[in-house]
Amino acid sequence: MELQGKVAVVTGAASGIGLAAAERFVAEGMSVVMADIEAPLLNEKVARLQADGAPVVSFVVDVSDAEQVTALRDFSLASFGAVHLLFNNAGVGGTGRPTWKTKPAVWDWVVAVDLLGVAYGVEAFTPLMVEQGEGHIVNTASEAGLCATPMLGAYHAAKYGVVGLSEALVMELAGTGVGVSCLCPELVNTKIFESTRNAPAHLGLPKPDPTPIEMLEAFMKTKAIEPSVVAGNVVDAVRGNSFWILTHEVTHVRAQHRNESQQRGETPSMISVAGAN
Ligand SMILES: NC(=O)c1ccc[n+]([C@@H]2O[C@H](COP(=O)([O-])OP(=O)(O)OC[C@H]3O[C@@H](n4cnc5c(N)ncnc54)[C@H](O)[C@@H]3O)[C@@H](O)[C@H]2O)c1
Repeated sequence: MELQGKVAVVTGAASGIGLAAAERFVAEGMSVVMADIEAPLLNEKVARLQADGAPVVSFVVDVSDAEQVTALRDFSLASFGAVHLLFNNAGVGGTGRPTWKTKPAVWDWVVAVDLLGVAYGVEAFTPLMVEQGEGHIVNTASEAGLCATPMLGAYHAAKYGVVGLSEALVMELAGTGVGVSCLCPELVNTKIFESTRNAPAHLGLPKPDPTPIEMLEAFMKTKAIEPSVVAGNVVDAVRGNSFWILTHEVTHVRAQHRNESQQRGETPSMISVAGAN
């Protein structure tokens, strides 16, 4: 799909990958609806872009609420008259607890934002795109949607779900003019490890301490990339109608290990690919 003159909707647009994507879409000549739950930060970012003359508008949304996602669609149509690109990107990182010690309310939060938020976006926007015979949906999953590591069970469950949902969707939309991509980043230099800043108050989760990216790189045995690089990957995938968007070579290695190990009937284990990117 060509991007110039088209309209994009980006969720999770106040920070990280979503913000970088919104900026890149503007640079490609698109009008952009920037949506996020973190109102003050969203409004600050949108005001900065508008001051530079960018055709962007803001919409405060909780993607885990289907009615709010429908309202985002209606607002987008009222603002720009059409939607050609939906970037279902808002997400939270979970709490880093063992799966069997994860409380039901935390499951509800992570699955509702990371999986159902994507599902609600697909349900609200796909009919418009099918009707206009043109569009593209990019769903943000993760490398964590292709291979698992300990301590992130709820996040993995949601992100594996986004991969499955996206695979089904691309088959269903074949021949409609609407493309689908599934974004599976490894480590990106964003605030995803500070996600509890957006957790509902009733969960009582502690506000996060920022973790230096070098510590995360060491823990995840990978190199972080900047969100602007991921935004470039997304633009390439939309233009080329590519389904998979993998940001790191190491993801191919890990996914291959998982698939081959599964074929051999082995119990899942972590693969160490230290230093790989
Ligand atoms: N950063 C990484 O290493 C990495 C790796 C793989 C996948 N991802 C995925 O990328 C996506 C973007 O995350 P990021 O890394 O840019 O992190 P980020 O925390 O910088 O940005 C996420 C944005 O989503 C918003 N958000 C959170 N809950 C929301 C809700 N209920 N409704 C609407 N908006 C909400 C946040 O306010 C924030 O602006 C997420 O889906 C994340 O799971 C990130």
